[in-house]
Amino acid sequence: MKLSDLKEESSKIIDEASKEINNVNETASLNEFKNKFLGKKSSLTDFYSKMKEVIASERKDFGLVLTSLRDKLNSLYDEKEKKLKEEKLKKKMLAEKVDITLPGRDMLLGSKHPNEIIIDDITSYLMSLGFSVEEGPEVESDLNNFELVNIPKDHPSRDMQDSFSINENTVLRSHTSCIQARVMKKMNGTYPVKIICPGKVYRRDNDATHSHEFFQCEGLVIGEHVTMSHLLETLTLLLKHLFGEKREVRFRPSYFPFTEPSIEVDISCAECNGKGCNLCKHTGFIEVLGAGMVHPNVLRMNGYDDKKVSAYAFGIGIDRVAMLKYKIEDIKNFYTGDINFLKQFVKE
Ligand code: DAH
Repeated sequence: MKLSDLKEESSKIIDEASKEINNVNETASLNEFKNKFLGKKSSLTDFYSKMKEVIASERKDFGLVLTSLRDKLNSLYDEKEKKLKEEKLKKKMLAEKVDITLPGRDMLLGSKHPNEIIIDDITSYLMSLGFSVEEGPEVESDLNNFELVNIPKDHPSRDMQDSFSINENTVLRSHTSCIQARVMKKMNGTYPVKIICPGKVYRRDNDATHSHEFFQCEGLVIGEHVTMSHLLETLTLLLKHLFGEKREVRFRPSYFPFTEPSIEVDISCAECNGKGCNLCKHTGFIEVLGAGMVHPNVLRMNGYDDKKVSAYAFGIGIDRVAMLKYKIEDIKNFYTGDINFLKQFVKE
């Protein structure tokens, strides 16, 4: 093929293509255009196959003309493709017009669980008194949960905390007191220690005020000259912070394997102001926590010199505090995930 023939053909093709592209107004006909002018059976492809027949002196220019023909056809195609896409988008946007006058959708505001509110309150208050927060796992060793807090294998107090066993040496912790063993191990005989540990515990218990899962917050203070009066003062401050200055705080002697002496702590009943009612079983007081001076056995077993240091500990039931504060009668409400119950605790 001659160069002059190619030039002539090429400008005819460009004229034809420029006319035809004007009639293209949908993707299907654009594809037809592509097949006709750029496809396998197009003149363009045919010209390329003729390259080898072109005489050597014309071959370079022949190639240049072919390239510019191909570029021109491609750009006709590309421009049209872009235009069709834009038109399609425009149509879609017009069809999907957003009505900005419609009211927005309300975001549902979650709420803190009452236990969480109490845990936050206790933690931030006790942190202001210099306590720091420790954590431990809910799946705990028999050693930490019982042995190292002075409850050996055959001890009758194990019966009261008939626990959920994972295997012979592992239980779901029945109290947060196991954190005492963990912290003492970590501190390796050093002091002062002044920690609290809020967390979930498990016990075989089931009535309106007891659940097989509930929350406690443990406290442990170790140092030289730590005395019972420190304990009483801290607990009085905490309980008055939680229940109000007007509540009376009462200490009674009690028994816990890990403390000696041990106490139980009551507050005067808010319902009857100490006169006696159904809530306080006509005693005028409601028990809220257990505490005591850490038993020398516990200190010794966990690497502390009981001649040098003393310690106090306490364990407060979170659910109990929440039930009293918010006048909740059944502890099950805390664990059924009932939105209507939980919604009451949304802060306005
Ligand atoms: N662990 C006890 C319980 O679950 C609560 C308790 C009592 C913790 C006295 C203490 C304590 O640290 O000194 O009933």
